Amino acid sequence: MSHPSISRRRFLAAAGGIAAGSLVAACSAGRASSVTRVTATSPQVAATERARRTAGQSTTDVNLDAMQGDVDLGGRVVRTWTYGGQLPGREIRVRRGDMLRVSLSNDLPEATTIHWHGVALRNDMDGVPELTQPPIGARGSFRYEFTIPHAGTYFFHPHVGVQLDRGLYAPLIVEDPDAPADYDTELVVVLDDWLDGLGRDPNGVFKELRTGGMGSMGMARSTLLGGDAGDVTYPYFLVNGRLASAPQVVAARSGQRIRLRLINAGSDTAFRVGLPGVPMTVTHTDGFPVQPAIADAVLLGMGERIDAIITVPDRPVPLLALAEGKDGVAQLVLQPGRAAAPDPAALVGELSSRPVLMATDTRAADAVRLAERAPDVVHELKVGGPDRNYTWTINGQVYDPNRGLPVRQGQRVRLRFVNTTTMFHPMHLHGHTFQVRAPNGSGPRKDTVNVLPGKALEVDFDADNPGQWLTHCHNVYHGEAGMMTVVSYVE
Ligand code: C2O
Ligand code: CU
Repeated sequence: MSHPSISRRRFLAAAGGIAAGSLVAACSAGRASSVTRVTATSPQVAATERARRTAGQSTTDVNLDAMQGDVDLGGRVVRTWTYGGQLPGREIRVRRGDMLRVSLSNDLPEATTIHWHGVALRNDMDGVPELTQPPIGARGSFRYEFTIPHAGTYFFHPHVGVQLDRGLYAPLIVEDPDAPADYDTELVVVLDDWLDGLGRDPNGVFKELRTGGMGSMGMARSTLLGGDAGDVTYPYFLVNGRLASAPQVVAARSGQRIRLRLINAGSDTAFRVGLPGVPMTVTHTDGFPVQPAIADAVLLGMGERIDAIITVPDRPVPLLALAEGKDGVAQLVLQPGRAAAPDPAALVGELSSRPVLMATDTRAADAVRLAERAPDVVHELKVGGPDRNYTWTINGQVYDPNRGLPVRQGQRVRLRFVNTTTMFHPMHLHGHTFQVRAPNGSGPRKDTVNVLPGKALEVDFDADNPGQWLTHCHNVYHGEAGMMTVVSYVE
């Protein structure tokens, strides 16, 4: 038994004692045993952070204001919640190994937190209320401060309720100082499904789902996703905060090579993305390199990111984001020269007839492939629902921060997701980048992976980042309705 430090006791008081130091959990041998949780304030978490710091480390300071205000989607002004009044929030760009220090002021009418999606950071900065920090109350503030160990395309968003389905999201780009850039420029592309400020808001939609039964759910279906494509009907879909009728126009040169950093910040919508007639070379999934793969279109579930390089053609071309299985499209226009941009409606059919590359079809690049190793522990996560009152579960239970899947530092861990539902679930793990187990060879490194209806999917990771880490469905309504659990380091 370790002795709780003073700071840990203070933390427990602040968090209302929810992140208790002890829990009863089934150990891998199936026998119940009393174990001690490695909590966010444990010395192991601080030690892991210390080991990531380097002498010449540079620090990036950012002030962030979570606020209410008006945003122009392109001829349509909505009142919503954003970071700094912008949609998406202003990008944060750092280099691998840097320290990021973000002072958040909460000017929202309710408590919030920030989660740094995909980043293997110190556990006490992960932004999960109760589990890793007390929620930041209205008019409160909090300073996030952590080293960023891996390069890649990430984003950040709140981890309270269904706040993500407002405008609270922004890209976090981590450059690799050692990687040669074999492209001319970059373009960050953030996708979103939008309903806030149009007579509805995410809290109201969630209440409708909980009380209205299946009648209030959308009827979206997708062959690609193997079943239901979503529960919520959205009036709009956005690329970089803009409606398809008033897209962002990006000036480009014919022949220029652009690295696209695609981020799906949506809450209930997968997007099929492509530029009709322009092939993409996919280079990264969720920030980690893959063996390059050529594709006409790619699919991104909620929380997924894909990086791809394109060569700009000699004519204007839209980047289209089709709301998969739903009726809607968003776009951005690449504009070399002055020719008029084509009508996207005419190109949707062309894009949707193309084969789609799924991230799970890619292979990890050699440099990031996990070493072969048999798992020390295997946890099965049966995802189920919706039950009565729109309840979504993992292993038959709704989220309880006191329950978890025990792992020990140094173990190779396998998670086996089994989807018993009729809908896809983008399952996300905090604080780690797992490797998808592909039938032949090493699948991609990822932190969010689509698990299709009726299918099982296994992922492996090394337990090298002590703490309490959520794993959950990145459909924000499913997560809030219970489809979350904790990968719980114990000692
Ligand atoms: Cu972006 Cu817990 O999620
Ligand atoms: Cu789900």
